[in-house]
Amino acid sequence: MANSCRKLIFNIYLVFYCSAVIMPHICICSQFTSSPIDQFNKDPRAFPIATNGEIFPWHELRLPTVIIPLHYDLLIHPNLTSLDFVASEKIEVLVRDATQFIVLHSKDLEILNASLQSEEDVRYRKPGESLTVLSYPAHQQIALLVPEKLRADLRYSVAIDFQAKLADGFEGFYKSTYRTLGGETRTIAVTDFEPTEARMAFPCFDEPLFKANFSIKIRRESRHIALSNMPKVKTIELEGGLLEDHFETTVKMSTYLVAYIVCDFTSVSGTASSGVKVSIYASPDKWSQTHYALEASLKLLDYYENYFDIHYPLPKLDLVAIPDFASGAMENWGLVTYRETSLLFDPKKSSISDKLWVTKVIAHELAHQWFGNLVTMEWWNDIWLNEGFATYMELISLNITYPELQFNCLESDSASGGFCYSDSKKTSNTLAFQLAFLRKNVELKEMMATWTLQKGIPLVVVKREGRSLRLQQERFLSGVSKEDPEWGTLQERYLWHIPVTYSTSSSHAIHRHILKLKTDTLDLSEKTDWVKFNVDSNGYYIVHYEGQGWDELITLLNQNHTLLRPKDRLGLIHDAFQLVSAGRLTLDKALDLTRYLQRETSIPALLKGLEYLELLYRMVERRNISDVTENLKHYLLQYFKPVIDTQSWVDKGSVWDRMLRSTVLKLACYLNHAPCIQKATELFSQWMESSGKLNIPTDVLKVVYSVGAQTTAGWNYLLEQYELSLSGAEKNKILYALSTSKHQEKLMKLIELGMEGKVIKTQDLAALLFAIARNPEGQQLAWNFVKENWTHLLKKFDLGSFPIRMIVSGTTSHFSSKDELQEVELFFESLKAQGSHLDIFQIILETISKNIKWLEKNLPTLRKWLLITT
Ligand code: BES
Ligand code: ZN
Repeated sequence: MANSCRKLIFNIYLVFYCSAVIMPHICICSQFTSSPIDQFNKDPRAFPIATNGEIFPWHELRLPTVIIPLHYDLLIHPNLTSLDFVASEKIEVLVRDATQFIVLHSKDLEILNASLQSEEDVRYRKPGESLTVLSYPAHQQIALLVPEKLRADLRYSVAIDFQAKLADGFEGFYKSTYRTLGGETRTIAVTDFEPTEARMAFPCFDEPLFKANFSIKIRRESRHIALSNMPKVKTIELEGGLLEDHFETTVKMSTYLVAYIVCDFTSVSGTASSGVKVSIYASPDKWSQTHYALEASLKLLDYYENYFDIHYPLPKLDLVAIPDFASGAMENWGLVTYRETSLLFDPKKSSISDKLWVTKVIAHELAHQWFGNLVTMEWWNDIWLNEGFATYMELISLNITYPELQFNCLESDSASGGFCYSDSKKTSNTLAFQLAFLRKNVELKEMMATWTLQKGIPLVVVKREGRSLRLQQERFLSGVSKEDPEWGTLQERYLWHIPVTYSTSSSHAIHRHILKLKTDTLDLSEKTDWVKFNVDSNGYYIVHYEGQGWDELITLLNQNHTLLRPKDRLGLIHDAFQLVSAGRLTLDKALDLTRYLQRETSIPALLKGLEYLELLYRMVERRNISDVTENLKHYLLQYFKPVIDTQSWVDKGSVWDRMLRSTVLKLACYLNHAPCIQKATELFSQWMESSGKLNIPTDVLKVVYSVGAQTTAGWNYLLEQYELSLSGAEKNKILYALSTSKHQEKLMKLIELGMEGKVIKTQDLAALLFAIARNPEGQQLAWNFVKENWTHLLKKFDLGSFPIRMIVSGTTSHFSSKDELQEVELFFESLKAQGSHLDIFQIILETISKNIKWLEKNLPTLRKWLLITT
């Protein structure tokens, strides 16, 4: 049942997706059938000017669709000594409508020559006719002008020779370096194309809808290996000792998923149940960190093939740890690339949360092999389909393949048939029952439209009056309260069909109702002390209880929290703090709700509470509100003393035990809890005395290093170890620890090293600035640095790139004062004036405004609550 249902869902998705891809595609074609040439003939002045001064025959950012690529033959020869590459390609194209030019993408490539052969020319081996190449860099396009009009419905072969430098950054075909154990620096060449950087590596139709087959050949020296999307078919020895690897032709695929690497990496391999060969590659000295990824990817590949009931279509799958990588990972078909910390697991240095991260990233990228690679969005506006499904699949696959790592299914809920159910067996609330209920009560299509066509999340407001429950739905707005003038406009026309569930004090039954109207009333069959909506937090809505509702639940939690299920308790904490941000609940109520946490045995619920409390602490600490900071510190240490004191400094217990240990000890040491500092200092000294050889338990490694980094000797020693360490997981922990120093000159030194890019790689600069900006002693330093070095930063990263976004938002969005807001506004204005505009500017300014409002409203309440409570 569940299996066929899944297949059905996938097939519906496939049909929906295909129609979404094909239909607009057809529309676009008809729109352009005769337009390019006609338009050009009508008004050549409407067209841009190419670099040679001639008219460039195409003025749109999107390519014309009169010509489509069918097959690419690529030959690439990177030189890892001179750091450049020469290449040639033959693209077989189909002309759909007669045309006099071929427009394709090309960025920073030197085109040496281009020629054209008709099918007949190819058959009779007639040499190609040379083409004029025009270039319009503003659109990253070149146009090949043909002497005679290309005829509709015929195939042609376009040959281009080109060359370029291996790129300096993290995009296109770029160089990456790593240090060996012996201290030698080695270079590799690697690609990263999503979304639009394939054009930096070869001229191509660089839009996801132009799918084609690729036959790739790579020349290399014998000390290197070459990898690409497909397995190697053969290697040819060329004159002079060079080797040329030929790879099998790919399935039809988008350009952004093409990949190749020339490196000297070593690998571990295994075979999935379906026969697919899976290999994990890393630089030779990191080979010992590859085994966990192999185990996980084999398991996950088996799972997905089974779950989707569609074979992974390639004969092999390689996962490669790249020493310099801008993001976390990239799902190139058959050759998935990862930042080292997203793939490698070092049993001695990687913590349980590192393991969870690696597993999640592998699960995510493997899901893309179906969602995104097999079915692909027509254009980037639908990237959310790719990323949304891959992210969703992380949860689905991990809950089954790694139930012990299960996370956002919590506790020991029953997972069956590849799905994650909540408490189903306990409550006889089976999937069949839920489906039967939905079928009977719901127009599914109508209901789904309210979720897919409206953004955001609904808020269900519940008011109990005797035996009657009054329900009302709104659009939930974080940071906007009902009194704000914009509230009304932001609410307009939002209405969901919400399947709500609730339980009450008087029975164990789960009650169900579909809330389709703005307001509705339900009748309770019996008198009840409390009512809790969104059973097990399974629904996608936030609940606010008006009247006595929250007080009743607070009392319940304090008297006997086990009457509610763990996920209900976690959900209540989440909703309460969210409602504080929306101005619907006062902070003291949310804080009162956390008072039961001392007795909480469900670790996820406890972690959720601690997360919000730590956020409060960090906010007041950053703003230097010393009385509240001190009182909150005192409260946290007193109140959570039992849980802090029972933590041991070992890697033992369940995943959740280990997560709790890391979080609690990190918080306790951050709050200067003496026993915690003492133990961490002791471990750090032993580690230093052992010259870094002692194995500190991985889950407390970060806190031990952070405490150690507070002395100059410790900080210097950590920096030395940072340089030497071959474990990305350890390096991340050391860098974080170094960034918590209270000394400005040490923080500045880190930034300088990050800018230099040798000891601290450029790929880690954004995370470093983010971490320093989170340190109260570093926030001003990081912010000033970004302001004063903006042009330097733009030399390292593209304006819209992930690192730039992280740097800008990481150093500003935690601000919570009017002065800071004004400073950020001024800076953004000056950037805009220079032509550096980012869409995130507006979001950041709104976030800071919300922080200001939050603090104005809630600081007095927090102050008072602490005085009463402590
Ligand atoms: N395909 C994305 C990376 C990407 C997205 C690159 C958009 C360029 C434009 C990849 O699958 C991804 O989502 N990577 C994440 C890691 C993941 C586990 C969330 C990343 O890099 O942060
Ligand atoms: Zn993704």
